[in-house]
Amino acid sequence: MTLPSSCVSKHHLRISPSPKLLFFILSTCCFTLLILFEIQSLHTSSPSPSRSFFQQWQNRTLAQDLSSLNEKLRLSVTFLPLKDLRYSKKPLEGHTWFMSSMYDTHQEGEVQYQEFPSEASHGRLLCLKGHETHEGSSNYYALAWPDALPFNATLVKGLTFVAYNHYDYHNIWHSLGAFFPFVAWHKMNGCESPERWVLFQKGELRLKTNPWLNTLMGATFGREPYIEVFDWVKDEEPVCFEKAVVMRHNEGGMSRARRMEAYDLIRCKARVYCNLNLERRIPEIGMTMLMRTGARSFNNETAVIEIFERECRRVDGCRLMVAYANNLTVCDQVKLMSLTDILISPHGAQLTNLFLMDRNSSIMEFYPKGWLKLAGVGQYVYRSMSSWAGMRHQGAWRDPDGEHCPYPDDDGRCMSVYKNGRIGYNETFFTEWTRNVLIQVKARKLEEAASREDQSDSASNTCHCG
Ligand SMILES: *[C@@H]1O[C@H](CO)[C@@H](O)[C@H](O)[C@H]1NC(C)=O
Ligand SMILES: *[C@@H]1O[C@H](CO)[C@@H](O)[C@H](O)[C@H]1NC(C)=O
Ligand SMILES: *[C@@H]1O[C@H](CO)[C@@H](O)[C@H](O)[C@H]1NC(C)=O
Ligand SMILES: *[C@@H]1O[C@H](CO)[C@@H](O)[C@H](O)[C@H]1NC(C)=O
Ligand SMILES: *[C@@H]1O[C@H](CO)[C@@H](O)[C@H](O)[C@H]1NC(C)=O
Ligand SMILES: *[C@@H]1O[C@H](CO)[C@@H](O)[C@H](O)[C@H]1NC(C)=O
Repeated sequence: MTLPSSCVSKHHLRISPSPKLLFFILSTCCFTLLILFEIQSLHTSSPSPSRSFFQQWQNRTLAQDLSSLNEKLRLSVTFLPLKDLRYSKKPLEGHTWFMSSMYDTHQEGEVQYQEFPSEASHGRLLCLKGHETHEGSSNYYALAWPDALPFNATLVKGLTFVAYNHYDYHNIWHSLGAFFPFVAWHKMNGCESPERWVLFQKGELRLKTNPWLNTLMGATFGREPYIEVFDWVKDEEPVCFEKAVVMRHNEGGMSRARRMEAYDLIRCKARVYCNLNLERRIPEIGMTMLMRTGARSFNNETAVIEIFERECRRVDGCRLMVAYANNLTVCDQVKLMSLTDILISPHGAQLTNLFLMDRNSSIMEFYPKGWLKLAGVGQYVYRSMSSWAGMRHQGAWRDPDGEHCPYPDDDGRCMSVYKNGRIGYNETFFTEWTRNVLIQVKARKLEEAASREDQSDSASNTCHCG
């Protein structure tokens, strides 16, 4: 505590004041000190060393009231289930059942998020309790003021990202969806990076993600995500976070421009991380077939590759690359995509890589029989993603033939037959389609080369963040 300057300077006064004045000054000072001391004790619970000196003058009732009020506040911290069972069957119908009592902060066109502490949380921190991995309604959340944390709570320092995912963290598409809004937040908040991540799927704690996501997020945030598993804390003991950001709507609410900027940042950081030379020979057109094995692979790869190879050979500067997503390292994928202008690939998670191409690149997608009628809106995710990442989805080919389903082909039961179907080919269709795409891409590349010369806008190794 600093003493009021009028009290301190009194000792240096050279004039000798009258006893009356001295008494007045002294009593004013003592009173001021007493008040200051009371104010101080509102802010801190640790006793200051000078406390005992003033104890005899103190009216302790105020302090007692405060501590009993604090006790009441601590007792009144209410934990609610992370998964609100009232809405558990309707997560896709707009009901937010993860932390259902909370509202997001959302500005037009920006990412939707919750931040603790914040004005919206009235200065309260986020606390979590439980680390159940099978039942989301057995994990809990609560808000608490920093000086009235629930009993037995541990306060963890630094910034914590809390991710919510309705699907899983193994599939690269679904895991990127859950992490993506944090990239936008990071960009919006002076590139602040988290100390740790807490991952939930349907309110259940998840302990790890996949190597692809770890690498890309490591590149973006400066270090690989440290996933908090709470193995150091007892089940019934709460953990409160000095600062936490919660995302539960993926990219929802973000404008296309904001989404493109966030994808731009990950792409740029990934290329720097993988040590790629960002300069490309301009007239070159990279055409990449990203193949799958098993479900939704091409029936006759040789025949399909032959078609694209032939069409590529007809165009100056076109180079065909054929790769299997399953045996490429993450940096191999980043590099391959940086050389790709036309991505040819069946519907599937490997298409998530599409945002790693230069902007304005093209995607050609393939589906097995039966998907159009039965697969629901999920089958269009890569078309949407192409648009969000600033790419051009050049349409899809749907195989009219495929495995036989014993029910009518719009019967939901057929999806289990078609889901993992394989994909044939139509030489006439593939040929015409590829020719059209190549014409467009060639024109775009020439245009871009011309405008790049004007602006001498050379690729740089600094990624724009913030
Ligand atoms: C000081 O303590 C007395 C006796 O406990 C109480 O009656 C009085 O209200 C207190 N005054 C203040 C300002 O708290
Ligand atoms: C805090 O922890 C102690 C020791 O584990 C336990 O006895 C006590 O009941 C706990 N208090 C609360 C409020 O949970
Ligand atoms: C695949 O296509 C090639 C070329 O069109 C053909 O020669 C070959 O017989 C086909 N393979 C199978 C297994 O159908
Ligand atoms: C990559 O995977 C494909 C399909 O599984 C396989 O045929 C090929 O040999 C693999 N290549 C390498 C270099 O491992
Ligand atoms: C992508 O295409 C649009 C429209 O043709 C153009 O305005 C934009 O500059 C292109 N973006 C890049 C990064 O080349
Ligand atoms: C192959 O595609 C062409 C061009 O779209 C179409 O006219 C033809 O009917 C298709 N063939 C088969 C067997 O589906």
